[in-house]
Amino acid sequence: MAAPPSSGPVTGRALVVGASSGIGAALVRELAREGYAVGAVARREGELRMLASQCAPATVRTYAFDVTDHGATRALFDRAVAELGGLDEIYYCAGVMPILREDEYDLEKDREILEVNCVAASAWFNLAAAHFERRRAGQIVGISSVAADRGRRGNPGYCASKAWMDTFLEGLRNRLVRNGVSVLTIKPGYIDTPMLVGRPNMNRSIAPLPVDECARSIRAAARARAHVRYVPAKWGLVGFVIRNIPRFIFTRWGPP
Ligand SMILES: NC(=O)c1ccc[n+]([C@@H]2O[C@H](COP(=O)([O-])OP(=O)(O)OC[C@H]3O[C@@H](n4cnc5c(N)ncnc54)[C@H](OP(=O)(O)O)[C@@H]3O)[C@@H](O)[C@H]2O)c1
Repeated sequence: MAAPPSSGPVTGRALVVGASSGIGAALVRELAREGYAVGAVARREGELRMLASQCAPATVRTYAFDVTDHGATRALFDRAVAELGGLDEIYYCAGVMPILREDEYDLEKDREILEVNCVAASAWFNLAAAHFERRRAGQIVGISSVAADRGRRGNPGYCASKAWMDTFLEGLRNRLVRNGVSVLTIKPGYIDTPMLVGRPNMNRSIAPLPVDECARSIRAAARARAHVRYVPAKWGLVGFVIRNIPRFIFTRWGPP
């Protein structure tokens, strides 16, 4: 059973964007248990409040916010940093993966993916990068996906958004490493979260990882100041195989 949330001194300050469910909510619980003061950002205020009360007596400040409100992001970032008393780590977990039929081509679905998974991620990553660079300390963590490793027929826009995140974070890492700031890319396989509910093209023979285990693995990678981690680790092998399937085979017989 997980240990109760910490009531001791604050061990760090973290922002979790996309904190109302799934991986983000599990990270908030894990950080609170470790004694962090946490800022939790997402649209669903009720879920955020419930999460904060589960984490008491640890400090979880909640911010009901739509990350596609790009013009208001800087003000919220500054407010959250001030209210947390500083910032040591940011976790960008917000993400969408609309269900797409294989005969469906939909700009609006792709636009939502790009707005949440890429444009908003860029807004939070850039604000955090500048903040941490000034202090020559800090850590940025982005939740990408094994889907980044290949363009799959099931959801081209989602795969492309995660490939964007991999490359963006690699570039940030290569800038910031010189200034004491670390950047971690997390590439989850199947994780048991609401995002997987009702997916038509999931491989049902693979059991998803419980979300709290996923959060613990992400925290372990963050503490190790790793650069890229598949979660669970065995998906690293899956990623390797998928990346190396010759194109003519992947095109005809690759996974959806
Ligand atoms: N589950 C998996 O198997 C899996 C695998 C690989 C990668 N991932 C990635 O992991 C990340 C977390 O997903 P999850 O599985 O934990 O799914 P989830 O439970 O659906 O969580 C998604 C989070 O994103 C937030 N979000 C979405 N749109 C938002 C918006 N416009 N403004 C603010 N917050 C927004 C949601 O909050 P609100 O709806 O309250 O705003 C929610 O907290 C995503 O980037 C996903 O692509 C998941």
